[in-house]
Amino acid sequence: MKAVQFSRFGGPDVLAVVDVDEPHAGPGQIRIAVKASSVNPMDRARRSGRFKLDLPARIGRDAAGVVDEVGEGVTDVKVGDSAFGVAVDGRGTAEFALLRRWAKKPERLSYAETAALPIAAETATRCLRKLAATAGQTLLINGAAGSVGQAAVQLARRQGLRVIGTASQGNHARLREIGAEPVVYGAGLVDRVRQLAPGGVDFVLDCAGQALGDLVEIAGDAARVLTVAGSTLAAEYGVRSTAGGGEDAAYDAYWSVAKLADQGEFSLPVQRTFAMTQASEAHALSESTHLTGKIVIVIE
Ligand SMILES: NC(=O)c1ccc[n+]([C@@H]2O[C@H](COP(=O)([O-])OP(=O)(O)OC[C@H]3O[C@@H](n4cnc5c(N)ncnc54)[C@H](OP(=O)(O)O)[C@@H]3O)[C@@H](O)[C@H]2O)c1
Repeated sequence: MKAVQFSRFGGPDVLAVVDVDEPHAGPGQIRIAVKASSVNPMDRARRSGRFKLDLPARIGRDAAGVVDEVGEGVTDVKVGDSAFGVAVDGRGTAEFALLRRWAKKPERLSYAETAALPIAAETATRCLRKLAATAGQTLLINGAAGSVGQAAVQLARRQGLRVIGTASQGNHARLREIGAEPVVYGAGLVDRVRQLAPGGVDFVLDCAGQALGDLVEIAGDAARVLTVAGSTLAAEYGVRSTAGGGEDAAYDAYWSVAKLADQGEFSLPVQRTFAMTQASEAHALSESTHLTGKIVIVIE
């Protein structure tokens, strides 16, 4: 089968379409014929050599497609269903991929729109559970226009929270559309947030790894700030951090956001789709830290 692979660490141009052996679903796994796979910051980090990986290595964590093999013990989907999730070993940008956790694809969304969901939805759900804010409280989300940020805005609003979200000006309309009060990030953030919320904010969720000092000042207590951007940065500022793949993973979020998506109550925008042969271009565009939506690789 065709898959996108890199044989050395580096920029987007290290990505190439190659022929590899097809994977097969083991116990508790499903195999999907992949229709779409989105690009996440983690894909870029793996490709650029931030982690120790055996080479050649592959890309594509978020994936959506049609189930064509069902492993032993799997009862909630069958061959022919459409499903999405995070590909085993981050090998989703390929003709076939294995999933260990999944949900059925929302009928209302395209495969590209569905491939935008899994990591963002799981991360946002995990973060909101950790913050444990209650209806009526105020949450500031830093980097609210990103994938994790937009997922968190939509889910927090459903919990009855007031949400203030930082974003560049061009993303403010989208934040309003999903129920957040937008504010520009950068110098002066503390004062701008105080003007919006003179009584203070109850919690801060950082989805950008930026301005943690300001975020602690806004929250008034580092313990009320949670970041997804890494434990080293968190330790520096004394804030809480969360990483994916642990015991607190919120994989049930796949099913819950799929249901919300079918009700027209949850979505993440897709900025642009690319063919598998354009994987380098897709990664190059995704390196911009100011996207308006997910970059998705579509597998024909
Ligand atoms: N810990 C975990 O489990 C986990 C899981 C998933 C992702 N992550 C991490 O979470 C972060 C966000 O991921 P993502 O997929 O949401 O990324 P993304 O879609 O690329 O979004 C990044 C956002 O950051 C915003 N931004 C850029 N500069 C900023 C600044 N100086 N201050 C505030 N916001 C700024 C951008 O907003 P504008 O476009 O408006 O400028 C953009 O919307 C990444 O660091 C990723 O590695 C962690």
